[in-house]
Amino acid sequence: MPVCIVVPKRRGESVRSQLLSEGILDLGHRIRAEGDNLLIPINVPSYGDFEVVEADSPAQERRPTDYREVADIPADLRDELPSSFDVIGDIALIKLPDSLMPYKCEIGRALMEVNGSIRTAFLDSGVKGEFRIRDLERIAGSGPSETVHREFGVSLRTDPSKVYFNPRLSSERARIASLVEDGETVIDMFAGVAPFGTVICRNADPGAVYSIDLNPEAERFARINAEKNHINKLFPITGDAIEVIQRLPIADRIIMNLPQTADRFLGCALGRLRIGGIAHMYKITECEGFSGFCAKLESDMAALGFGISVEASELKTYSPTMSVYSLDIRRES
Ligand SMILES: C[S@@+](CC[C@H](N)C(=O)[O-])C[C@H]1O[C@@H](n2cnc3c(N)ncnc32)[C@H](O)[C@@H]1O
Repeated sequence: MPVCIVVPKRRGESVRSQLLSEGILDLGHRIRAEGDNLLIPINVPSYGDFEVVEADSPAQERRPTDYREVADIPADLRDELPSSFDVIGDIALIKLPDSLMPYKCEIGRALMEVNGSIRTAFLDSGVKGEFRIRDLERIAGSGPSETVHREFGVSLRTDPSKVYFNPRLSSERARIASLVEDGETVIDMFAGVAPFGTVICRNADPGAVYSIDLNPEAERFARINAEKNHINKLFPITGDAIEVIQRLPIADRIIMNLPQTADRFLGCALGRLRIGGIAHMYKITECEGFSGFCAKLESDMAALGFGISVEASELKTYSPTMSVYSLDIRRES
């Protein structure tokens, strides 16, 4: 039987939260009322001056919140279960090492068991090709891979099997939106379903946002997203950003989220950016040589006739030696 302290009801809540914060509330058993008192289970022999009793408190079921607790796989493989996975709308995407492939369906089932809002789970074998589309295989649940993802007051319709979408960039999208001043012209060169453009239009007041992508599915979803979010200043365009950008007005801000190769497009972007404007570029590169990368960027742009200043921060780890960096590049001349 669990050890309980006898606490007058009027002090029950303050004592309960104190026990919780000290880590000595016994979460495996329920709190019981008895007359004017509460019997609060603890996992230490006593607490303060409170009377201690052994009480018949019913066990309390703790719902697991981590899929790793409920996945039925061999004990020697447990350490290989990924601690994180992506959730886009009501679908989960998980990457698995080869050793866990025989258990992929059980892992999908476990993801759905502990995350009640997930309708279907996919094995994610990484992004491929120019469109950066994910290679997906259903491992649990049912229904299409098309879904609606919500972030910062917008809903974004997308299908990760047809167009790139990264739910982990939501804070970055909010940061960029917070920088946009009234009436700005914004160009997103590699826009996908226009998550940057949609978040900007709903949370700031730009003059126009042009979202370009090579993938026609990106334009289709971007148009749906503009309509569903009641936006009339977002203009999705299908095509190669290098060509399309030449036909657009000079921009105050350009977004360049193509982290493998965005730097190759920087000269072209600066040519369409006003002096004083900012290019937000994302780049995957070696952590060790990062300051050298920035210095080379400055000298390469100087050779093209552009003066720039760069403010960079590490956005997330990409591999043991590489990271994704966010670079705010101001055109000075
Ligand atoms: C990493 S994704 C970024 C999508 C979006 N910005 C986001 O955050 O979800 C890069 C996108 O650039 C597109 N892309 C690749 N090369 C391109 C090019 N030359 N011109 C326009 N879009 C391009 C791909 O189709 C892909 O949708």
